[in-house]
Amino acid sequence: MRITVPATMPAWLNDRYGTASGTAQDAVPTPQPGPGEVLLRVRATALNAADVHLMQGDPLLLRPMFGLRRPKQPIRGNDVAGAIVAVGADVDESRIGEEVVVELDGGGGLAPFAVARADRLVARPAKVAPEIAATVPISGGTAVQALDVALVEAGQRVLVLGASGGVGTFAVQLATLRGAEVWATCGEANRELVESLGATRTFDYRTTDAASIPSSFDAIIDIAGDLPLRRLRRLLTPTGVIAMVGGEGGRVLGPIPRMLRAMFLSIGSRRSIRMVMAVANREINEQLVALAAEGRVAPVIEQVLPWDAAVDGLARLESGRTVGKVVVLGRE
Ligand SMILES: NC(=O)c1ccc[n+]([C@@H]2O[C@H](COP(=O)([O-])OP(=O)(O)OC[C@H]3O[C@@H](n4cnc5c(N)ncnc54)[C@H](OP(=O)(O)O)[C@@H]3O)[C@@H](O)[C@H]2O)c1
Repeated sequence: MRITVPATMPAWLNDRYGTASGTAQDAVPTPQPGPGEVLLRVRATALNAADVHLMQGDPLLLRPMFGLRRPKQPIRGNDVAGAIVAVGADVDESRIGEEVVVELDGGGGLAPFAVARADRLVARPAKVAPEIAATVPISGGTAVQALDVALVEAGQRVLVLGASGGVGTFAVQLATLRGAEVWATCGEANRELVESLGATRTFDYRTTDAASIPSSFDAIIDIAGDLPLRRLRRLLTPTGVIAMVGGEGGRVLGPIPRMLRAMFLSIGSRRSIRMVMAVANREINEQLVALAAEGRVAPVIEQVLPWDAAVDGLARLESGRTVGKVVVLGRE
């Protein structure tokens, strides 16, 4: 499919750090693919907690990297399903027309066109709709990398803290698929959902102190990140592992103090606490898309929003109440 790419495009911009309500549509130059890159016609963009952090410039520690006063890249959205409409130098022109899914670098997805790295592209099979494929890279990829960090395997008992969000809904399904017995925390309203994804026991985090759950675990996937590590560690078997995924932390340093505490607590202990620093991984995304195509993993999607409602999607993520994923469809 060859199309004429316009010189400018309307995009959702957050020109300044702030809340979702400060995000507005405006015209910007259509990006050009450089060497090793492609230009995608965006079909769907899934939102992530990372979009909220970048939108708010939070924690402040990140601002030197992402823009001191305003975001260097003002367009949010990292996880994109789309069609290749142009290629940069070094990329075969025959790829134009391919339907793909990809994690972008630092945003750009809430726009009709977005530039992506060719070496990250995963083919999207026709049976996996764009709004489903787009959910995979960050949430699914983080869940896989967290399970790997925690060495989760068949026969183990795993506790997923924060099981109802984007990462958690993948983590429960993928740990179950590995043959682990999954216990999980989530809000009361989401217990049934989380159990339908494979968890054998669930606990309402508002009424149950997870640190007092009466069992021990080979692995804890800590996505919520709000309980003292010292207490969580007591839930581990003697060689168990905590994989630290999430948690908001302070306004300035974010998760750094918790990471330092984890390092300190791990000294001389067989029970380890390990950071998950998920990175874009093409092989993992390829496996996840294949699992979705086979129906072995079913991404949980709370809302698929039309392009014009993208700001509502960002506001929903900002609320921290998302059940599974929020996806914004590409502009018609
Ligand atoms: N380390 C990494 O590489 C990496 C990668 C991706 C994401 N993350 C981090 O992982 C965290 C989760 O990301 P996400 O995309 O899954 O977020 P999300 O989709 O926004 O998570 C929202 C869900 O979390 C539930 N929740 C909130 N507080 C909870 C608690 N204390 N205990 C149990 N459940 C709780 C909410 O349930 P209720 O509505 O019932 O409150 C809601 O369903 C974020 O902090 C994100 O920054 C880290």
